[in-house]
Amino acid sequence: MGKNDGLYIFCYNGRMNKKILLSGIQPSGALHIGNYFGAIRQFVALQEKYESYVFIADLHALTTTQDAGKLSQSIIDVTLDYLACGLDPEKVCLFKQSDIGGAVGELAWDFNCITTMPYLERAVAYKDANQKAKEVNVGLFDYPVLMAADILIQDADAVPVGADQKQHVEIARDIAQKFNNTFGNTFKLPEPLIMQDVAIVPGLDGRKMSKSYGNTIPLFGTDAEIEKAVAGIVTDSGADIPQNVYAIHKLFKTEAELTSLYDANKGKYKILKDALAADIKAFIGPMREKRNALAQDMEKVKSILKAGGEKARARAEAKMSLVHEKVGMKIY
Ligand code: ADP
Ligand code: TRP
Repeated sequence: MGKNDGLYIFCYNGRMNKKILLSGIQPSGALHIGNYFGAIRQFVALQEKYESYVFIADLHALTTTQDAGKLSQSIIDVTLDYLACGLDPEKVCLFKQSDIGGAVGELAWDFNCITTMPYLERAVAYKDANQKAKEVNVGLFDYPVLMAADILIQDADAVPVGADQKQHVEIARDIAQKFNNTFGNTFKLPEPLIMQDVAIVPGLDGRKMSKSYGNTIPLFGTDAEIEKAVAGIVTDSGADIPQNVYAIHKLFKTEAELTSLYDANKGKYKILKDALAADIKAFIGPMREKRNALAQDMEKVKSILKAGGEKARARAEAKMSLVHEKVGMKIY
C-alpha cells in the first residue's frame, strides 16, 4: 500500500484510502452480453482495487418503464444478474437508487437550478429520444442531471461504462465544476472508465448491441435463446469471414484461436455460427447456474440490496449536509 499507483488517495489522517468507483444499470429489460462486456465485467474486475458502489438505476428506468409489476421484477432480475456475474457483496456496496432517492432527487434539483436547457438539449440521448419518441417526458430530458447526482453524491473518482455513456459522465464533470465555481469546492470531478476493446459491443446486425435495437444476445438466455440469436446474426453473403459473427466471437476467444477456426472454415457460416453458439453457452453456463441457485433464496438477495441501500444512503445524506451548507440553506 506504500506506493502510489494512482488507485489510492492520501488522506488527512495519514491513511491511504482507495479511490471510489461507482456505476449503475437501469432495470429496463433482460441484460445482454453488451452490458456484460461493456460494463459489468469491469465492475467485477475492479471491485477489490476500488471502494466500489454499484447500483440499480430504478429512478432512471421510470423514464421508460411505467408498469409497476415489470419494474419490480426487473429490479430483482438485475440484482441476481449482478451477483451471478461475480459482484461480491462483501466487497461492493450493492444498492437500489430509489433507496437513496430523497437525497439524489434533491441534489438533482440543485443541479437543475445551475444547468441550462440549451446545454441539456445537446445531450445525445435526448436528441435520439426526441427523434424517435412522439413525446419526451421531462424525466428523460433531465436524465443526465439525475445521473450527475448519482455520481457526485458518492464522491466517485471512476465511473466504468460503455462508450455510449461517456457523454453523461462528462456532463457530471461539467456540473461538478459549475457547482464548485458557484458555491465553492464541494464535488470531485469523476472520470469515465472505458475499456477500448469492448467500448461498443456489436449486435446481431453489426450496430451497437442495444435493447432498443432488438439486436441482442441475452446474457442469461436459455441455450435455445442463444442458438436462435446466433442463427439470426446478419451475414454478408460471399465473404470468407462473416464479419458480424467474428466481431462477437472475439469477445469469447483469442485472435489466435479464431484465426485457425476461421481459416479452416472459410465461407462456412453455419459451422462458424455453431462454434460461436457453443462458446457463448460454455461461457454463460456457470453464471446461469449460479443465478438459478441465488434465486432460491430471494430473502437473502433482498437483504443484500437493503443493507447496501442503508450504507449508500448514510453517505449521501452526509454529502447533502455539506451541500446545504454550501448553498446557504443551513441556518441551524
Ligand atoms: P441498452 O443500450 O441495451 O439500453 P444500457 O443503456 O442499459 O443498455 O447500458 C447499461 C450499461 O451497459 C452501460 O454502461 C452501457 O454503456 C453498457 N452497454 C450497453 N450496450 C453496450 C454495448 N453494445 N457495448 C458496450 N457497452 C454497452
Ligand atoms: N445511464 C446509465 C445506463 O443507461 C445508468 C446510470 C444511471 C449510471 N446513473 C448512473 C451509470 C451513474 C453510471 C453512473 O446504463
